Parts: sequence; C-alpha cells; structure tokens
Amino acid sequence: MKRITALLALLCLIPSFLFAQTPYQPSEENLRSRQDFADMKFGIFIHWGIYSMFAQGEWYMHNANLNWQEYAKAASGFYPARFNAEEWVQVFKDSGAKYITFTTRHHDSFSMWHTQASDYNIVEATPFKRDVVKELADACHKHDFRLHFYYSHLDWRRADYPIGQTGKGTGRIPKPNYATYLDFMKQQLTELLTNYGEVGAIWFDGVWDHEKDSEPFDWHLREQYDLIHALQPACLVGNNHHRSNNPGEDIQIFERDVPGENKAGYSGDAAISQILPLETCETMNGMWGYKIIDQNYKTTKELIHLLVRTAGKGANLLLNVGPQPNGELPAVAVKRLREMGQWLAKYGESIYATKGGNDFLAATLLDASPNIVATRKGDVVYLHLLANDQQEIRLSAGTRIKNAICLNNDAELSITKSKKKQSILLTDLPTDEPDLVIKIIL
Ligand code: GLC
Repeated sequence: MKRITALLALLCLIPSFLFAQTPYQPSEENLRSRQDFADMKFGIFIHWGIYSMFAQGEWYMHNANLNWQEYAKAASGFYPARFNAEEWVQVFKDSGAKYITFTTRHHDSFSMWHTQASDYNIVEATPFKRDVVKELADACHKHDFRLHFYYSHLDWRRADYPIGQTGKGTGRIPKPNYATYLDFMKQQLTELLTNYGEVGAIWFDGVWDHEKDSEPFDWHLREQYDLIHALQPACLVGNNHHRSNNPGEDIQIFERDVPGENKAGYSGDAAISQILPLETCETMNGMWGYKIIDQNYKTTKELIHLLVRTAGKGANLLLNVGPQPNGELPAVAVKRLREMGQWLAKYGESIYATKGGNDFLAATLLDASPNIVATRKGDVVYLHLLANDQQEIRLSAGTRIKNAICLNNDAELSITKSKKKQSILLTDLPTDEPDLVIKIIL
C-alpha cells in the first residue's frame, strides 16, 4: 500500500500535459495480457446496478428525467437476495466464455463496490451491504476466469461532473469542477486496481457525452491510463469512444458492430487498429441493463453466428447479460449461454486462439459470400458456412490444401482440381447445423 501511495504521489506531481506527450510504451506484461485476451475470443458483459430495479434499462434515469434524489431512494430497496457470484461464474464458464466485464459504476453514479470515495455505494447505501465486486472478483480468481471492470466517465448525479449532452434533467445543481471529479475517479480506479486482485482490463464508457462541445473537452485520459498501468501494468485499457485509438489504450472496442461494419452507426469514425486486440460488444436482447419488456432475445443460432463473424474479423465478442434486480440471471439468457457453451465445446478449436481469416478468403475464395467466414490458426483454416446452401466451395487453383474435414460429422471431404480452380465438395453433410465448420489443413 505504501508503495502505491508513493507512486500516486509521484504521478500527481507530473503535469498533465506531459502525460499526453509521452509516447506510450506498453510493458512486457501488458503485451502478454493483450495476447491472452485476444485468444479468449468470448467474454460476458454484465450490466447490473440499482437501475435494474426499475427494469427499464440502465438509461432510465436520463430517459425519464428522474430527479437524482428520488432515483437514489432505489438504493435503500436494493436487496438482490438471489445473487450468488459463484453461480454466475459457473453459468459463464458453461457458456464457453473466458472473462467477464462488470459494470462497477455506470452513468447513474452508483458504485457496486465499497468505495471510500462516495457513500453512494452498495455497502453503505443498500440494505444488502455486500460488496458484489469483491464477491465476483473472488469467484473469478478462484475459477480462473478473467475479470474486467466497466467504468463510466460520465455521471448523472455528481455536481462536479461537467454536464455534457446527457443527464440534464436529473435536477442536480451543477458546480462543474473537473479537477475534483477527476480526483474522485482516480481514487475509485485506484481502489478497483488495489483491492480486487488481478484486473484484466478497465473498460471506459461515456466520453462521447462531450462530443458535441464547441471546445473539445479534455478528459485527461492519458493521466488515468498511466495511473492504471502504474498500478497494474498488465491491465488493459479500453475506451468505448467509437473512435480510433488514443495512446495508452490497449484494446479497441466496437459497440454493436463487428469491426469494419457500421450498422449501429457508432463505428463510422474508427479506423481499425492493426496492432491492438479488438472487441465487439453486443446485447443478447436489445438493452444492456435489465428491461422487463425486452424479451426479444436473439436465437442461439444468431448468437453463434455473431460469435463466428466476430472471430472472423479477429475480434472478441463481449456478449451482454442484464441480471434481474433479485440477483438472478434471466432464464432465457442462461439457456442461450449454455447452448453456446455446448456448441463451443465441440467447435471451440475454430474460435479460441484463432486469428481472423479475411486475408485467406480474399486470396483464395472464388465466390465471395457474406455467409462464409474464416478463422485461422497457423496452417489450419476454419471455413464457417453460415448459410449451408452450397454444394461446393471453389478456391483458386494455387491454394495449397492437404486435406479438408467437416467438423460437424468428421467426414473427410473430396477435393477436385482443375487448371482454374479447386473445389471442396460438400455432399452428404448435415443440413440442420447452425454452422458447418470445414477444417482445412494447408
Ligand atoms: C453505451 C451505453 C451504455 C452501455 C454501453 C455498452 O455506451 O451508453 O449504457 O453501457 O453502451 O457498450
């Protein structure tokens, strides 16, 4: 602790403009952690807070312009009697995921751990009085599950947060003071990175709140990133800012889109990093936080396709679950996750520790199709046929193929060659699979 305090004191002495100027050199541990993370390919996002009690999603405070003092009363009724960190982690393990990203503090300002920086936290402001971050951290460490923390930059409650585009109707009397707000965030980040063991990443969100300011807002990001790396060098920094990466960031995040697509409209300004691990976050239904009327869950097949398409771009999928106010995971979510786990138990080799196979497809596939996705591990390429509507896969004549096996039924596939092309024949293969996985040894 003494060492950390001394380190923090030292960091505070460094003027912030120097943070911004120094080139970022990730440590060895950080580079290893990036690789471990990239190999995991599948994680679970958890949006859980006192907003879950309203069952209207995590933006309810802003959407309904709830008064901050009225909203806070929800805390005194928050008693998630059925919360069991071990059970959650077991479900996530069963899904084949390798890490979680937990919302430690969302835009509503409520902290889900016993922070000393504010009494608006789960231990002091609720009758539950349990530090759920601690319980989750313990369960993750015990079961060898990687732990990431989501942390909101924006705040709809604190007076010192310089109000941006959102949370304007919460009735607080603004006294903007970014210096004190930044200190508060640094104190909280220090706690999260000191008291909960190894943290795989800090996942920031909310800087877009100041996107439309006439004067660019200086969040002092680098100062926060350097603090994180000083406390835990292997901890990755990600920021859901929807833009190209800034120095000090270790992963690139895409919201609701696989890298390279911009269907959700968030990723238009982001050049895809060629160096950093990529991660796509997506909901299982439509909302991140628990929303009682939102039962529009994607099917297991759709979720498997999403995972495959994401891996095909070389990215991880961070799939969200919004636990109920009583602490249980929604039953539909659990069912979907277990089914994904069954699929991954059989086809995991085509996902985990793979790289995206776009280059292979571009160089070899004669009939490009959005329903053919490739992942790759050295000399092995996995072709994922998501539509399963072809008789053959036509590849350029020069493609070096030793053999091709359909992983769904272990059949070795015939290959015909001519001067112009070679074809992997897809006769007598199962028709009812969500994904036909063809393993090609080069
Ligand atoms: C958006 C939302 C936020 C959610 C996040 C997850 O930034 O504002 O509520 O936590 O997406 O990606």
